[in-house]
Amino acid sequence: MSAASGLEGVVVAQTTLSAINGEKGELIYAGYDIDDLARNTTFEEVAYLLWNGKLPNRGELDDLHRKLVAERALSPQLLDLIRVFPTDANPMAALRTAVSAMAFYDAEAEDNSDEANRRKAIRMTAQIPTIITAFDRLRGGKEPVEPRSDLGTAANFLYMLNGEPADELRVRTFDAALVLHAEHGMNASTFSARVTAGTLADIYSAVVSAIGTLKGASHGGANMRVMEMLVDIEKSGDEPGAWVRSALGRKERVMGFGHRVYKATDPRATVLRELADQIMKGAGETRWLDLSDQVRAAMSEEMEKSGKKIYPNVDFFSASVYTTLGIKTDLFTPIFAMARVTGWTAHLFEQYANNRLIRPKAEYVGPRDLKVEPVESR
Ligand code: ACO
Repeated sequence: MSAASGLEGVVVAQTTLSAINGEKGELIYAGYDIDDLARNTTFEEVAYLLWNGKLPNRGELDDLHRKLVAERALSPQLLDLIRVFPTDANPMAALRTAVSAMAFYDAEAEDNSDEANRRKAIRMTAQIPTIITAFDRLRGGKEPVEPRSDLGTAANFLYMLNGEPADELRVRTFDAALVLHAEHGMNASTFSARVTAGTLADIYSAVVSAIGTLKGASHGGANMRVMEMLVDIEKSGDEPGAWVRSALGRKERVMGFGHRVYKATDPRATVLRELADQIMKGAGETRWLDLSDQVRAAMSEEMEKSGKKIYPNVDFFSASVYTTLGIKTDLFTPIFAMARVTGWTAHLFEQYANNRLIRPKAEYVGPRDLKVEPVESR
């Protein structure tokens, strides 16, 4: 038996949550096309869909909103802890630590029943936006802003971040971005979460594993690197096509391109390109989108020459959308976690409900038959 590099093509679980057609560039959540969901639902409706397998009716949606609102405020102990985080901490490290600490102050932390896990999923989904915004304000010398009960997740996040309500277009754009990031099959962070839950560890531990995995540049960390790349290209003064060719010549990866499963444009990138267009035209400043389009055209030309199926992924246009919303680059990956916690926890409900320890094997390629020499003669 030989190792499947990167577990490519290996099916590790059954799920009812999402399906990807990588050749066609299609994604569905529980039966609904991502394009339809991004245009016609809110993040809370999608959270309900992932957690319950159906879209909520008005009463069910209002009930979920009430539950989320009731859990948004951080415990005083958690807020005190965030106050002593180093102001130069990586925001993903801050989020990872804060979510881990949430368990200290949750009386249900060690209760692995489905009912308790569903309450904890709501708690984490409600508090992650408060953690991110509290950390960001404190590191900037400002006091955290209390959550507002009359706002949905997207509007409340932008309000807590900036201390003032965002306009309708901004809220709608951000809400759609959260919908697009909520779930994505057996991606690396979801797999991590499932592996942790497979040992019957608690749901906080599983989500902390997922946050750590999302942080990497090959996964959720790519969105901030896309923005850094766009800034670099602008600063260099190079023509974007020349910049791309030179990066590829140095065998570097162009951030926001390529995907293990998609061999066509990621459908989330298509919706995000549209959102970027709307929000930037609304803001009267389209330079990041213009630059992104030039990078995309250059990549498309180069990939055609090399015969590689590498297209824009979800991170490519989300970078310029978030920048236009006035969000700092190093908060992009925490925002990804704020949306994906719904998908992670939905997978965790599936994992706990039908659990078996996840324990693959390694192919040993080291030496055999060695004999231990006394330490002095080695
Ligand atoms: N730029 C340039 N070349 C690339 C890129 C890229 N972004 N992505 C893949 N390639 C090339 C590789 O160099 C490799 O070429 P080779 O066969 O000549 O050596 C070939 O495509 C296959 O690459 P792998 O690393 O084997 O593909 P894998 O499926 O393991 O990687 C990944 C997928 C990690 C996403 C990769 O495409 C990448 O590094 N992209 C940039 C980072 C990024 O945008 N990540 C976000 C992904 S979406 C998400 O997680 C939210």
